[in-house]
Amino acid sequence: MDNITICPGSRELADNVAAIVVDLINAKPDCVICFAAGDTPLPMLRKLVALQKEGAVNLNNAYYVSLDEWWGIGYDTPGSCIQVMKDAFYLPAGISESRMALFDGTAGNAQREKDRISRFLDAHGGLDLIVLGVGMNGHIGFIEPGVHSENVCELIPLSKTTKEVSIKYFGYVTPLEYGITLGVKTMLQAEKIIVMADGTRKREIMKRVLQGPVSEECPASLLRTSSKTQYYMDTAAAEFLLKS
Ligand code: F6R
Repeated sequence: MDNITICPGSRELADNVAAIVVDLINAKPDCVICFAAGDTPLPMLRKLVALQKEGAVNLNNAYYVSLDEWWGIGYDTPGSCIQVMKDAFYLPAGISESRMALFDGTAGNAQREKDRISRFLDAHGGLDLIVLGVGMNGHIGFIEPGVHSENVCELIPLSKTTKEVSIKYFGYVTPLEYGITLGVKTMLQAEKIIVMADGTRKREIMKRVLQGPVSEECPASLLRTSSKTQYYMDTAAAEFLLKS
């Protein structure tokens, strides 16, 4: 499939996706980008900061929208998406607050928070690029298996798997019950959709994402309905493709 790029390792994965972001920003400095938090995109985000230091790109004129947040926590909680993203990317890149709309999990009123992010997207013309990771259960953002999403933003009950996996971000299984996230429609409306996956732990779910049924039971499989979706994986995650 020509929409799948398999990279020898996670470094090349980060470099390839960073190059796409750089090309976009250089062509359209005021573009609107959404980056997933989580472990997968972090090396790519660090690469972007390094490229800016080298003068290859200016990250400061683009607009940034967050993909999701654990509902109930904010920047002060280690492991929150906002803390991960600000500390790894937005702050070292020197991006001003006015250029970003990041979900605040402590906002209290979820509807108002969803409206705030929707208005920011509207005001800047929608997403030019979204870079997604894939959860161990196939979730994208916090769109969990079995969820029917039709709104710009959603508040979704966290699945058992997502709670179990949360230990890697927090050091304990989260007691939180909900995630706030962009909806599937918003993700699919992005001009360019990049799905990243690395490591052997993602092998099984990526096989389902790419070769299983297109179904809300595996939210990342829904991205196959768009010709704009491109997959970037390392050889560990893509082993099932190399063998066939
Ligand atoms: C994070 C997010 C999640 C992650 C997914 C993969 O903002 O939206 O959907 O992308 O859980 O997480 P990692 O990359 O840590 O394996």
